[in-house]
Amino acid sequence: MTKRTKTRLLRRTTQLEKWELPTTLFRDDRDPAGPIDFSLHRQFESLIDSEEVRWSVRYRLMKRLGAGSQGVVFLAERTGAYNISLPVALKVFSPSNHADLKSYRRHMERLARVAMRLALIQQDHLLDMHNVVQCRGISVHVMEWVDGFDLRYLMSADLFRSVQSRLTLSQLEYLTDVTITEGPECSRLKPGVAIAILRECLAALAAMHRNGLVHADIKPSNIMLKRSGNAKLIDFGCTFELDDHSAPNACTPRYAAVEVLNGERCSPQSDLASLGYCLVELLTGRILFPGLERFGDLISAKQLLPDQLPELLPAEIANDEHVLKLIRGLIAPNPVDRFADAEAADFLDHGAANFQRQLVKGDLSSEYENEIRQWLQEVE
Ligand SMILES: Nc1ncnc2c1ncn2[C@@H]1O[C@H](COP(=O)(O)OP(=O)(O)OP(=O)(O)O)[C@@H](O)[C@H]1O
Ligand SMILES: [Mg+2]
Repeated sequence: MTKRTKTRLLRRTTQLEKWELPTTLFRDDRDPAGPIDFSLHRQFESLIDSEEVRWSVRYRLMKRLGAGSQGVVFLAERTGAYNISLPVALKVFSPSNHADLKSYRRHMERLARVAMRLALIQQDHLLDMHNVVQCRGISVHVMEWVDGFDLRYLMSADLFRSVQSRLTLSQLEYLTDVTITEGPECSRLKPGVAIAILRECLAALAAMHRNGLVHADIKPSNIMLKRSGNAKLIDFGCTFELDDHSAPNACTPRYAAVEVLNGERCSPQSDLASLGYCLVELLTGRILFPGLERFGDLISAKQLLPDQLPELLPAEIANDEHVLKLIRGLIAPNPVDRFADAEAADFLDHGAANFQRQLVKGDLSSEYENEIRQWLQEVE
C-alpha cells in the first residue's frame, strides 16, 4: 500500500471515530447489540497499517473430482467467516512416481514456479491457480474449481446414451443436429461446437506460449467444458518453463507430437499437434491410434493421419478444403509444416476463425456457448 493511500485511510478512520456510528451496519456475531468500541477501530487501523496479514485456512474435502498419474483432485470447501464456504479444487500430488524424495521435491518446486507464472497470466480459458502449499510434506495446488466436465467424460458413448434417454424426440433431434451426436466409437461433436472449443483452447495456449510456458499434456481429459459453455485448459502437471532446460520431457504418447515421441523436447508447436489430435477425435467420434503402445507404431500412424482425414471425417466436412488445411496445419508430422503458433492457427486464412465464419455462411453454425450450456444441463 502506498504512503498516500495509507494516510488517506487513516484520515478516514480518524473521522469515523468522531462520528456517531450506525450500529446496525457494524454489528458482529459476538456482540450483536453493542456499539463499536475504540479497540475495534484500533484493530482496523493496525490491520491496514500492517506489512503483512495472516490467518489460518481450513478446507473440507467434499468429493474426489478425478485422479490420474500425478495424484488426486478434490472439490473442497474453503471455510470462511460468518459460516460461509467457497468451493475450490485441490490437487494433491502423489510421490509415487518418483525415485526418491529429492526428485519429488525438485518436481514440486518446478510445478510451484509454473503455477505462480500461470497465476499471473489470467486468461479466461486457463484454470486460475490460487496457491501452492505443503501439507505434511505433500505438495497441494489450490485452484479454481471448474463446474463442468472434462472432454474424455463428455465424449463417452455411454454418457450420450444416458442423455439420449432423458430427452424428448424433438430435443434429441435438435441436440444431434447442432451439438453432439453418436459417432462410430464415442460421441462426435458437430463442427461448429468443436471449432468453438478449439478456438478457446488456442487462445489459452497462445497466452501460455507468449508467457514462456509449454503445456506439454494437451488431451481430452485435460480440457474441461464449464456449465457456462466455455472451455478451460487444466492440468499443468507436465507444464514447463521454456527457459528451464532441465525440465523432464513427460508426455501422454497417444496425444504427443511426432517429434516428442522421437525424443525431442516438447515445444509450443508440439502443443498444437496434441490439440489437433483432440480435434480429430472430437470431429470423428473415434479414438485415435487404438491399441498402439510402441512409440515406433504411434509415429508411423501419426505420419499417415493427415492423408487419412477425408475417410475419417464425417461427410459434412470430409472434403472441405478449409477444415482439412486447418487440421493438417495442426497435426503435420514435421513441426515446420505446422502453423507457426497458436495465434496463426486461429487467425491465418486457413485458420480456425475463418472456418467458423465459413460455417456461419453455410448455416452449420449457431450460438455455440449457448448450445454447449444447454447440452451440459442434461449431463450429470
Ligand atoms: N480444477 C478442477 N475443477 C474440476 N475438476 C477438475 C479440476 N482439475 C481436475 N479436475 C478433474 O480431475 C481429473 C484429473 O485431474 P488432473 O488432470 O489435473 O490430474 P492428473 O493426475 O494430472 O491426470 P492425468 O495424468 O490423467 O492427466 C481431470 O481430468 C478433471 O476431470
Ligand atoms: Mg489430467
